[in-house]
Amino acid sequence: MTSQPLTADTSIDLSRRSVPTTTFDSSQWRRYFEENRKLRPVVRLPNEIALDESLQASLISSLQRFQIGETGEGRHLRKYAKKYGDPEYVQCVDMFIKEEQSHAQILSQVILAMNGNLLSWHWTDFAFVCMRRLLHLKTELLILLVAEVIGKCFYKYVADKVDYKPLEEVFSLIVLDEIMHLKFHTEFLSEQLRSYPWAVKHFVHYIWCMIFYTACFAFVFDHKKALKAMNISSAEFIETCSKTFHVKATRALGLE
Ligand SMILES: [Fe+2]
Ligand SMILES: [Fe+2]
Repeated sequence: MTSQPLTADTSIDLSRRSVPTTTFDSSQWRRYFEENRKLRPVVRLPNEIALDESLQASLISSLQRFQIGETGEGRHLRKYAKKYGDPEYVQCVDMFIKEEQSHAQILSQVILAMNGNLLSWHWTDFAFVCMRRLLHLKTELLILLVAEVIGKCFYKYVADKVDYKPLEEVFSLIVLDEIMHLKFHTEFLSEQLRSYPWAVKHFVHYIWCMIFYTACFAFVFDHKKALKAMNISSAEFIETCSKTFHVKATRALGLE
């Protein structure tokens, strides 16, 4: 293990990872996940984090929900991935799930350092899990990508807007992982959806957008205190998520 302490410089260094190209290649992605695990900086957070009182309380509440979402064991995703029949893709999915679990671990540390407690259940996570299991691997990934977009945008705002260096570093690190998760799922979906007829792709896009905006509106309603404490309006948050989502959705469906 060649982990290194997390600093502002190492947190944004992707240069040593073999970042996969645009066509989905499971062996390239396997190498990426392996290198990302080896080169991952060690996260060192203070035992106690004290921010502005209202920011801290609202941030705890939001991060508790994310912590549950990142905790899952990914049993269904693993099961679907195995059916796909590519052992290297299964390895990638395993390492992807481990990265999400490491995010859950980091979020736990942040929440506890802010004197918050961990939740064991929240309706938003339950709703996402139910929707993801509706049909098969592609459906699971379509819904997962919505959650990844919202998570990446929220973590980026925490890194940018909360004036506290250890949190900026740790959330920048998570954002880098999330950017690559989006790329990983988008490229896989693009490969899987390539042969769909044009009309079907547009229909999927329409339904996908409806799910995305429903999730976004539910999110800004549920996390309005944290967004307000970071001076982010609901409209700004939705617009930021929307830009990322549309790039990924049109790419996955080959509608660029
Ligand atoms: Fe994550
Ligand atoms: Fe992720």
